Amino acid sequence: MMKIITQIAELRAQINEWRNNQQRIAFIPTMGNLHDGHLTLVKQALTVADRVVVSIFVNPLQFGATEDYQTYPRTLTEDSDQLAQQGVDLLFNPAVTTIYPGGIEATTGIQVPKLSEILCGASRPVLFKGVATVVNILFNLVQPDEALFGEKDYQQLLIIKRMVTDLFIPIKIVGVPTVREPDGLAMSSRNHYLNQEQRAIAPYLFQTLHHMKVKITAGQREWALLESEAIESLKQIGFNPDYVSVRCCHDLTIPTPEDKNLIILAAAWLGPARLIDNIFVTCQ
Ligand code: PAJ
Repeated sequence: MMKIITQIAELRAQINEWRNNQQRIAFIPTMGNLHDGHLTLVKQALTVADRVVVSIFVNPLQFGATEDYQTYPRTLTEDSDQLAQQGVDLLFNPAVTTIYPGGIEATTGIQVPKLSEILCGASRPVLFKGVATVVNILFNLVQPDEALFGEKDYQQLLIIKRMVTDLFIPIKIVGVPTVREPDGLAMSSRNHYLNQEQRAIAPYLFQTLHHMKVKITAGQREWALLESEAIESLKQIGFNPDYVSVRCCHDLTIPTPEDKNLIILAAAWLGPARLIDNIFVTCQ
């Protein structure tokens, strides 16, 4: 039976019991509205741990004033049914006042410099401070042995890895490959914002990244040219691109022509939805 817990004392009591019994705990933080991307993280967690904890918490701290905090899809009943069906042991679903009892403005924040300021952090300045802060709080509450994050949010994954390294947090961070719709679109709760016409265009974002990958694999090294071509073709089809960027995959710096392990990342608005995606490129 999956336990649904909203209170910190109850959560701590359950975690203590498991830890005292030397049980290995895996944790997946989410904002709910679960899809197969989230469920893939859950399935992987179930294979490595004795106990799996999932949190559902739409974190106000990571949304900008003009962003979709109020309208973010909240589907707790469906989500908890799916998690119970998978065999998750505990769903933690706290209130905002439980996580931020002193108010969100007053809470102690975690800032991961540099990595948080580029790409998505450049256009969403509060995003990664909000993410690092809430993930740190959730880590302190759940005290897992490992935590799983999707590579779809690759910058977020690197920021969390950086945070646990810098703060000596004894949790293994595991990245899980992006789960896609059959037409290539990365699964995302925000895909629900798309109308039928926009949904038909949406897979073009990943196709564009794939196209760039083919060119880089064939020897193209002029990142700026590749990026501006991609931005142009995304605009042509109806996207409003935020960025398309070729980066080193270990630290998201701009690669030299000799760097071998790359990632191309993109963020683009399509109507009401800001879509993000990425693709790894290994050069010979
Ligand atoms: P959310 O968008 O709900 O995502 C929860 C986790 O699922 C993240 O690690 C995300 O990378 C992963 N995920 C989402 N779509 C995926 C896909 N298509 N394939 C693989 N993994 C996918 O990311 C957040 O919530 C929040 O920022 C959070 C970390 C919970 C902090 O509030």
